[in-house]
Amino acid sequence: MYERQQAPSRYSLPEPYPEVRVTAKNRFYAQLLLEDYASETSELDAINQYLYHSFRFKQWNLGDLAELEEGISIIEMRHMEMLAELILKLGGDPRYWVIRDNDQRYYSTSSVYYGHSVLDMLSADIEAERIAIVNYRRHAGMINDPYVRAVINRIVRDEEYHLQLFSEAYQRYRSTAPDKAQR
Ligand SMILES: [Fe+2]
Ligand SMILES: [Fe+2]
Repeated sequence: MYERQQAPSRYSLPEPYPEVRVTAKNRFYAQLLLEDYASETSELDAINQYLYHSFRFKQWNLGDLAELEEGISIIEMRHMEMLAELILKLGGDPRYWVIRDNDQRYYSTSSVYYGHSVLDMLSADIEAERIAIVNYRRHAGMINDPYVRAVINRIVRDEEYHLQLFSEAYQRYRSTAPDKAQR
């Protein structure tokens, strides 16, 4: 069996991820997780948004912020991978779509918040983490499978850490570099 890489990262908590397994197939749970996986407020959307922000911060010579965005984006990829495995085990298809009420909607990058200034972009990233936490908690409350919930709860802990890292960066730039913050 292939083992997930648990290489240490500065952008996730130093706690192992639980084993990705399910009690039984459940299409409804798979559909709930598809929203966390690829929707306008999802891991896929966070990956795209943070990567774009890292490209811009690099261009603006804000290396610390570029590294922060890229590092967190890579952790979101790990979350996305775990969600894909859960969705497959639950009997779903982890395409980049959301299925709801017999309707299927493919993910669009138009939901990425591209932004135009350092503080504007960081506050969008803070908001993305907040929404992710709320959605994961709501879904965990609807999922009566201890294995799936354990994975979600562990992901939430990383998202709380990301929220803290983005908030600290925001405070740092607001108080110490007002010129850069006004780009
Ligand atoms: Fe995530
Ligand atoms: Fe996150």
